[in-house]
Amino acid sequence: MTIRGAAKLALRRVSAPVLARMDVRKWPRIAARVHDLSLPAAVIPNPHPAPCGAANINIILDLLDQTAAIPGSVAECGVHRGRTLIPLSVHLRSSGSRKRVLGFDSFEGFPVEKLKQELGFLRSTEGDPNKSEGGFKDTSFALVKQKLVLFGLEHVELHQGYFSDTLAGCANEVFSFVHLDCDLYGSYKDCLEFFYPRLSSGGIVLLDEYNDPPWPGCNKAVDEFLAAKPEQLQAIERQNYQKYFFRKG
Ligand SMILES: C[S@@+](CC[C@H](N)C(=O)[O-])C[C@H]1O[C@@H](n2cnc3c(N)ncnc32)[C@H](O)[C@@H]1O
Repeated sequence: MTIRGAAKLALRRVSAPVLARMDVRKWPRIAARVHDLSLPAAVIPNPHPAPCGAANINIILDLLDQTAAIPGSVAECGVHRGRTLIPLSVHLRSSGSRKRVLGFDSFEGFPVEKLKQELGFLRSTEGDPNKSEGGFKDTSFALVKQKLVLFGLEHVELHQGYFSDTLAGCANEVFSFVHLDCDLYGSYKDCLEFFYPRLSSGGIVLLDEYNDPPWPGCNKAVDEFLAAKPEQLQAIERQNYQKYFFRKG
């Protein structure tokens, strides 16, 4: 390990227990760089109101708060490096919640078949460099697990593998809040079919890529799925990030 790498590791080890006792909304901006996390203090607002861009942590935390009294666990599909999973889990714990958090990801990027279908459907690979077979491979189960251990997040469990294989293992769960951040039509479809019947009344599903031009598979899956359901999409905006969600009736 380089001297720089060792110093960064030491900084992470020293700062994590201190941060873990603080409200995540008050974590300093520097913590986002040190721990590679999406934090409220580090959000760069969109220049104009737009539905594009990465997941907005303030929207996630606000919707989590709105579902605090709804029974059920919290899930995130599309964990990647844990940039949103870690702060949402810290926030849940520091707000006194006893809910469990389930994080789902292959931790090795998109399923190739689903990606190929998506690329065929898009007829273009432009718009996002992650939209490729190498996209989102820069992570691992061990990397995210290490972050969970560092922040003492024992209420979080990781489910490694493609959603089509891993979700079925949680068939007996009930959910209050689900963050879908998985980009592809097939991935959204798998998740919506699994979570909808397991969502408590008043529970929320946040759809990160809805109306986000590089990822039209999200709209297709969501529109198809909700067409025969009573729930309507609602919009939420923070720092010019416009995101969409639905609340189970
Ligand atoms: C946009 S990233 C998630 C970003 C993360 N929420 C954040 O804010 O840092 C999308 C992730 O979804 C995962 N993913 C997409 N479809 C999947 C599937 N069908 N099964 C497992 N993982 C999937 C990819 O591996 C990738 O890590």
